[in-house]
Amino acid sequence: MRMETGLMTASREEVVRRPELVRFAARQARPLFTKHCAECHGEDLKGRQGSGTPNLTDKVWLYGDGVFRLERDILYGVRSGHQKSMDLAEMRAYGLRGQLSQTEIRNLVQYIIRLSGRPADPEAASLGRELYFRALCDDCHSGDGRGNIDYGATDFTANTWDYGGDPESLYESIYYGRHGIMPAFIGKLSLTQIRALAVYVQTASER
Ligand code: HEC
Ligand code: HEC
Repeated sequence: MRMETGLMTASREEVVRRPELVRFAARQARPLFTKHCAECHGEDLKGRQGSGTPNLTDKVWLYGDGVFRLERDILYGVRSGHQKSMDLAEMRAYGLRGQLSQTEIRNLVQYIIRLSGRPADPEAASLGRELYFRALCDDCHSGDGRGNIDYGATDFTANTWDYGGDPESLYESIYYGRHGIMPAFIGKLSLTQIRALAVYVQTASER
């Protein structure tokens, strides 16, 4: 009971700095993670390559980190239908809707590969760069490609991908769009359980 109260009342700085609280949170969270999260994020928290579920241990966050941000993700989910769910921006199907041609998408792919610090076709990448601004990719992914945690828009410079960073997967992301959905856990788990999960995920990513 004392530990539970500690977990719920500690400040955001304090909660991950008190080893006894971190241990208590991990003990509570591990079986919950296995039961409610592992099917999507994997038992090891690392997600499933290319499936759209983020690796929770890599320090790269769509929506930012810190116990209280992670807690909000878990409480309300992403595009979950809950009114407080993260749902500000959507990666549209630029190809399917005829907004970009196949060649344009291929050029954008080369530019994104360049942004991620990998060797790219120079000519295609510079055409892609022009298009990146003309098609307003920068509205969500920002001018320098670092993404935006308010929108949950990918940081291309991190070279960490939820749907795959190879040319084919990047092409598909732009052609078909992406709509990652994470369920809301408010009402399914107690607030203490959700806090424990947030502390567990935050500290797992710091190891
Ligand atoms: C049905 C699959 C599914 C389940 C179950 C699920 N998640 Fe997620 N989760 C996702 C997806 C997909 C995203 C990414 C959403 C997006 O694309 O914006 C996500 C995002 C997150 C994020 C934000 C990551 C970031 O980069 O900002 C956290 C934290 C998280 N999940 C934790 C959990 C925890 C803890 C549980 C269990 C209580 C859980 N998830 C259960 C699919 C799932
Ligand atoms: C309205 C906001 C918005 C705009 C505009 C936008 N995106 Fe996105 N993009 C997102 C979001 C949000 C995600 C994360 C989707 C998810 O996880 O389900 C994303 C994901 C992606 C991904 C997949 C990243 C991964 O981790 O696998 C690629 C590639 C991408 N965007 C490229 C582009 C390109 C190129 C453009 C311009 C033609 C563009 N985006 C315009 C919001 C946007």
